[in-house]
Amino acid sequence: MKEELIEKIKDLKKQKNAVVLAHCYQNIEIDEVADFVGDSLYLSQMAKDTDADIIVFAGVTFMAETAKLLSPEKKVLLPKKEAGCQMADMIDAQALRKFKAEHPGVPAVCYVNSTAEVKAECDVCCTSSNALKIVKNLNSPEVLFLPDTYLGKWVEKQLEGVKVTTYSGFCPIHLLIKPEDMQNARKLHPNVKILVHPECHFDVSAQADFVGSTKAIMEFVRTSDDKEFVIATENGVVDRLMRDYPDKKFHLIKDSLVCESMKMIKLEDIYKSLANEEHEITLDPEIAQKAVNCINKMFELNN
Ligand code: 13P
Ligand code: SF4
Repeated sequence: MKEELIEKIKDLKKQKNAVVLAHCYQNIEIDEVADFVGDSLYLSQMAKDTDADIIVFAGVTFMAETAKLLSPEKKVLLPKKEAGCQMADMIDAQALRKFKAEHPGVPAVCYVNSTAEVKAECDVCCTSSNALKIVKNLNSPEVLFLPDTYLGKWVEKQLEGVKVTTYSGFCPIHLLIKPEDMQNARKLHPNVKILVHPECHFDVSAQADFVGSTKAIMEFVRTSDDKEFVIATENGVVDRLMRDYPDKKFHLIKDSLVCESMKMIKLEDIYKSLANEEHEITLDPEIAQKAVNCINKMFELNN
């Protein structure tokens, strides 16, 4: 049954010249039909470079919107239209304007986990993989960072001399990790490195052996001689690490680290979305033009 569905999706992809992009937090079965699997930065680069006619985005709304902004001539489909990101929804254009008005003249950096209308009013965008580099390359003594207060504060801590004024958004999944969880993990797994995503609370990041984006965590494991790790991020990352490194051992710091939005998409949804070309992303052209400038600025400063 599952094999049959996978074959049907693969046939449809060929027929329609479509690609499937999947974020690492997706149900792992999605990887079987995905052309590219990765973090937000990698997937946005793939969306920009592909010559497919249709992009099926197995992720959440802001990711599919980013793909549409970067490939406006392509049809971008989100298999579950209700798959949003709670953090991205914590700030809208009105709240952003107020935040900017409180800090006149300070450049605004938005995390890619934001809506197109928010990106449209920011100077540059970043992902967790390149946040440090983008803020550094902006060469400004002060920046506004939104919506994620914790990623922003982590960036400030790494960069001496840049004041990062953050908005009050956060990821409810990463904030489930408490400082006590770090202490317990140390007791349970002494001498095992704890790898933490920068969306975690700063009291958690402060206890980490390594803080990095999804990609950076996976790279750390790939290049490390260690055979065991504690992982403090969404459980999809651990599923993939276990699959890709069967000789290494992984402990998810807490079982509840599941982003329900990311897990909404099943293989059946990919099939339906592609067959019926449904849940197409459409954006207001004026907003899209401004938002794309914000993303392109990120690619410019990423070098
Ligand atoms: P990455 O930038 O690491 O892909 O993270 C995206 C995200 O939504 C984290 O919660
Ligand atoms: Fe948004 Fe958090 Fe889910 Fe990432 S894990 S998509 S930031 S709610």
